[in-house]
Amino acid sequence: MSGGLQFDEETSRKVEALYLTPDVVAQRCQVLKALQLREGERVLDIGSGPGLLAYDMAASVGRDGRVCGIDISEDMLAMSRKRCADLPWTEYQRANATNLPYPDSSFDAAVSTQVYEYVADIPAALAELCRVTCPGGRVVVLDTDYRSLVIHTEDEARMGRVLSAWEEHFVHAGLPRILSGHLRDAGFTIRQRNVIPMFNPEYHDNTYGKRALGIMASFAVGRRGVSQEEANAWLAEFAELGKQGKFFFSLNRYLFVADKVAAA
Ligand SMILES: C[S@@+](CC[C@H](N)C(=O)[O-])C[C@H]1O[C@@H](n2cnc3c(N)ncnc32)[C@H](O)[C@@H]1O
Repeated sequence: MSGGLQFDEETSRKVEALYLTPDVVAQRCQVLKALQLREGERVLDIGSGPGLLAYDMAASVGRDGRVCGIDISEDMLAMSRKRCADLPWTEYQRANATNLPYPDSSFDAAVSTQVYEYVADIPAALAELCRVTCPGGRVVVLDTDYRSLVIHTEDEARMGRVLSAWEEHFVHAGLPRILSGHLRDAGFTIRQRNVIPMFNPEYHDNTYGKRALGIMASFAVGRRGVSQEEANAWLAEFAELGKQGKFFFSLNRYLFVADKVAAA
């Protein structure tokens, strides 16, 4: 099997459930705070996924504002349209982050969370982000550094096999490390950077860690020699470690707030 994570209907539902855990709800609050949206503003969500952030942003800008979402997955777009059906100042369309369907300077603010790690051409995507943002406008970008993943296991060899299969799911394993330079090159000045840990030292259903491990196991099956049995055994270990009070999951996401340099 080859290719990255496909955001089809099944995966989109799993991502939605993952993003409704308190860990990711808290992250969305930080993103919203960083955006500092005001009533009447126009905001773009690049890779809007299930529309959870766009829904919250719609409340911040109100009916005199505008929330536009783009995504390459029709299944994700269907979810976000349903979620925001009663908010006519929101709109969604299918587009690639590297070719945004808007005129220059269309938005007061733009945001992209957990998307650019799947986009091969980061300079092209950030050039588009900069083009559609007003001079003086602000952007918020959030991505994961997958090499920050720390999971306790008593079977390091199996962990290595599953994680090496999981590496196929993204294009950039450590995008946050190089994002500052890319943002400056695209025409932004960086105002704020924060780390947002997804830290779950307990094995509970409603946590990012447990749900992410489920998505990782499904993705790994059939890649780099990982069988269904091995993926099941990998997951079973975490349930057992959880019972023994030995579960440990930690993964860092990084938030960047940047301003588009105003024209002189
Ligand atoms: C992990 S989800 C994040 C969704 C949403 N931003 C959030 O944080 O709730 C990644 C999303 O990026 C979208 N995506 C991936 N590559 C893209 C691209 N090149 N252009 C637009 N969207 C893309 C996927 O379809 C998916 O909806």
